[in-house]
Amino acid sequence: MFSVKLVTLIAAALAAASAFPTNETLDVGASCTITSFGQVSSVLSSCTNIVISGLSVPAGKTLELTLKSGSTVTFQGKTVFGVAHWGGPLIQISGSKITVKGASGHVLDGQGAQYWDGKGDLGATKPKFLRIKATGGSVLSGLHILNCPRQCVSLNRCDHVTLDGFNIDVSAGDKNKLGHNTDGFDISSSHDVVISNSVVKNQDDCVAVNKAHYVTLSKLQCSGGHGLSLSVGMSKTSKEDNTVSDVHFSDCTVSNSDNGIHIKTHSDGGPGVINNVSYENIKLSGIANYGVNIEQDYEKGKPTGIPKANIPITGLSITGVSGSMTGKNSKAVFILCADGGCRNWSWDVKISGAHEGNNCTKQPSNVEC
Ligand SMILES: *[C@@H]1O[C@H](CO)[C@@H](O)[C@H](O)[C@H]1NC(C)=O
Ligand SMILES: *[C@@H]1O[C@H](CO)[C@@H](O)[C@H](O)[C@H]1NC(C)=O
Ligand SMILES: *[C@@H]1O[C@H](CO)[C@@H](O)[C@H](O)[C@H]1NC(C)=O
Ligand SMILES: *[C@@H]1O[C@H](CO)[C@@H](O)[C@H](O)[C@H]1NC(C)=O
Repeated sequence: MFSVKLVTLIAAALAAASAFPTNETLDVGASCTITSFGQVSSVLSSCTNIVISGLSVPAGKTLELTLKSGSTVTFQGKTVFGVAHWGGPLIQISGSKITVKGASGHVLDGQGAQYWDGKGDLGATKPKFLRIKATGGSVLSGLHILNCPRQCVSLNRCDHVTLDGFNIDVSAGDKNKLGHNTDGFDISSSHDVVISNSVVKNQDDCVAVNKAHYVTLSKLQCSGGHGLSLSVGMSKTSKEDNTVSDVHFSDCTVSNSDNGIHIKTHSDGGPGVINNVSYENIKLSGIANYGVNIEQDYEKGKPTGIPKANIPITGLSITGVSGSMTGKNSKAVFILCADGGCRNWSWDVKISGAHEGNNCTKQPSNVEC
């Protein structure tokens, strides 16, 4: 039995090797290692197993990694990005069936402290950090992202991609409240996305889903920011569909943050819908403003107090959400739905320590408030 299996394995390995005859000319050790910015394009054009080691990216340049299908990239040592006032991104990674990982001790350093002015997107122009456009079963894992100037990781036009074991640390931006709009993960125009086992320390949304379906977020530890968010209908080209559906958050912690869960729809955007979204087993602590905040009244990026049903919220399940509040403006639950805007919710929320009572408007009748 054993030898038959072994022979089969060897045959399979030989078949796999001969299916990729270029393999031997590619991946020739040191020549597939990028240590200076000038090597990026030639290495990308000839290698599929790439190491980026101790790279300094010049100010105002994107480290653009447009990878051949099936490529592997490993970040080693410190990758540092020069400082310039531009929009970024500092890195863009695109490709199908790609693997991107961080070697032990590596870091991607955005040098945020040199940009932070307490005003985020409204202050001096700052680069976004990492944009991912990956597809086809790509896996990005174990990346250590330090001090994003503003938004950290943006997934755009991704499908069938997994992000696992990210460590996003912008906690230095807490100092003098200088870091702003440092979102952990922003997800738009994407589907079949998994984000798991990751830590986000920042000053804005831990996760913000803008437009996506089939997204699974699990085992995230968020602190310092604005919580686990959906922000739907912001699309600048109005009339574009902004649906968020089939999104599942589970087994997350949110601590020392403004909100635990925040769902907002924009009445000046849409059309769209939020449907079949669930939050399950979310533990909160040290939440300053709202444990669970759901409102349908955003316009020009701000709440107006006048909700609209242009983006209905249906099939929302918030269960096993528990924990505690702090601070004198804290409310466990705030809901502001438009007439007919919110339907078919499941609800099991137990949050203690709020200083103010709940405030709910037009919530589904089973929602305890
Ligand atoms: C082909 O490349 C892979 C990944 O770099 C490597 O593990 C494998 O040994 C290579 N195969 C051959 C036949 O060179
Ligand atoms: C709801 O979304 C989950 C993914 O989060 C999916 O597995 C499930 O099939 C969806 N349910 C329906 C009724 O579409
Ligand atoms: C509850 O929220 C609504 C909508 O923002 C507001 O108009 C109302 O004054 C609030 N009620 C209390 C008691 O705070
Ligand atoms: C309510 O929402 C759940 C979860 O998305 C879904 O499975 C169910 O079909 C919905 N029920 C109705 C009546 O729409």
